[in-house]
Amino acid sequence: MRPIVIAGNWKMHTNPTDAGELAHTIASRTKVAGVTRVLCPPFVCLAAVRDAVAGEDVAVGAQDVHHERVGAYTGDIAASMLAGLATWVIVGHSERRRWHHETNELVSEKLKRAIEAGLRPILCVGEDLEVREAGAHVAEALVVDQVLDAVRPNSGTGLAESGLVVAYEPVWAIGTGRHASGADAAGMAVAIRQALDDTFAGSVAGLRGETTPILYGGSVTAASIDQFLAEPEIDGALVGGASLKPDEMAGIVARAGITAHARGLAG
Ligand code: PGA
Repeated sequence: MRPIVIAGNWKMHTNPTDAGELAHTIASRTKVAGVTRVLCPPFVCLAAVRDAVAGEDVAVGAQDVHHERVGAYTGDIAASMLAGLATWVIVGHSERRRWHHETNELVSEKLKRAIEAGLRPILCVGEDLEVREAGAHVAEALVVDQVLDAVRPNSGTGLAESGLVVAYEPVWAIGTGRHASGADAAGMAVAIRQALDDTFAGSVAGLRGETTPILYGGSVTAASIDQFLAEPEIDGALVGGASLKPDEMAGIVARAGITAHARGLAG
């Protein structure tokens, strides 16, 4: 049974002084059975958020991790440094791909480092507008390539044990107020699951499409979440802008709770 996950990506917002209070407010307003909650603040706010949600059933995630274990990389953070601070990590976010020129190959290395460090990865993939406008099949082919390039160099067993989560985030929908349709997101999830099954079919304990949670991301709000969670192929959301607003998070997680209940996850 796949979990329902609502992950908040705070991007370059909050600071060590105010992050704890925001995390605490969100945690207390989103206590809903059957929903896995994750907050991903900036690195410098990880400790404050960890302390603020201690004792709550809320996981803390980092927004990125370096592709090497250690070395002369000024300003970067290695996966092992997150021990005690975070248990999840986002890799391959489109803003990293865009502003830091991260390639699929680099994202694959980051995934490896995350798995080694015992972090649960959220692998982000998604097409830009030009590709979407070329048609659903073109978009699916590109996104499937992003997923496979990232997972193939990793062990199927390692990926499965890490609890890999995939977030489908169309680049044109991120921070724009536009979003994919629930049906498009579900179609993408089917294509990703099929590709994972084709890739790891030979390995006994490898990653399976059926057991891999797939989230939707891109301008998710309390008002837009419904159409995604109504799709059986979609298992939650990676939320950016709205994750900084307790009212929005309360609405999103409440809606996720309905899906969790319907799917028999609410205990
Ligand atoms: P958004 O961001 O919800 O602000 O569109 C989503 C994301 O980048 O993960």
